Amino acid sequence: MSTEPSWLTETQVCPSILSCDFGAFRDGVRELLDAGARTFHVDVMDGHFVPVITFGTGVVAAIADEVHAAGGALAVHMMVERPERFIADYAKAGADSFTVHVEATSHLHYHLQAIREAGMAPGVTLNPGTPVAAIAEVAPYCDNLLCMSVNPGWGGQSFIPASLGRLAQLRALAAPGAGVEIDGGVGPATAAGCFRAGANRLTAGSAVFSAPDPAAAYHALVEQVRAVGTPSWA
Ligand code: DX5
Ligand code: ZN
Repeated sequence: MSTEPSWLTETQVCPSILSCDFGAFRDGVRELLDAGARTFHVDVMDGHFVPVITFGTGVVAAIADEVHAAGGALAVHMMVERPERFIADYAKAGADSFTVHVEATSHLHYHLQAIREAGMAPGVTLNPGTPVAAIAEVAPYCDNLLCMSVNPGWGGQSFIPASLGRLAQLRALAAPGAGVEIDGGVGPATAAGCFRAGANRLTAGSAVFSAPDPAAAYHALVEQVRAVGTPSWA
C-alpha cells in the first residue's frame, strides 16, 4: 500500500468512478485529485452478482500510479460472484482495499485473511435486504465495513432511508482502525446525515461526476460534512 493506514478511518468524500466518463477515466480522476479527493471508489460488476458488467483490473492499473503518487488510495467494491478468484489480480493492479459482498461468497473469514495477506485492506459489504448481523462474526477481521444504501448495480439511485440505522449498527461493529463507508445515493441531501449516523467515508458517484462541475460538487459535499462537526460516534 502506498498510503498510511489512516486513509480508511479519515473523514472523506470518495468519488465513485462508476459515474465517470468511461472514455476518460484518467482525466476524471485527475480533476478530482486536483480538487482534493484522495480515495476513489472502484465498482467492479460481473453481470452475475449484479446484471451489469463494468470494468476490471485494467482500469485499476490505469489510474493507480497517479492516485498513489498523490497519496491517494483505490477502494475496490467487488459486485462479483466468488470475488476471491480475483484477489491476487487486484493486488497486483494496485488496489488498496478489496471489499466483498457477504452474499457473494462462502468461507468469508478465510477470504478476508487472503485479502490481507495479498497486501490489501479487507472489507465486507451487504445488500440492503441482508441483516447486518450477517457480518457480525467477520467484522473484527475487516478494515472496511461498507453499507450499501441502494441495491448494487447502478449509479444514480435514491438513497434508502433505513440505511441510516444500519450505519449505526455497522459503526458499533467496526474494529479499532476500521472505517465505515456508505455507498449509494449519497449527495447534498444525504451526506451529512450519513456522517452523523456513522459513516466516515462517503462514496458519491453521480453527485460528483454527473454534476456540471465535479470539483465544485466535491467541495460542496466536503463542506457539508465539515459543517456537521464531531459526530457522536467519533
Ligand atoms: C452501485 C455502486 C455505487 C455507485 C453509487 O452499485 O456500488 O458505488 O457508484 O452511485 P451513486 O452515488 O450515483 O448512487
Ligand atoms: Zn460501490
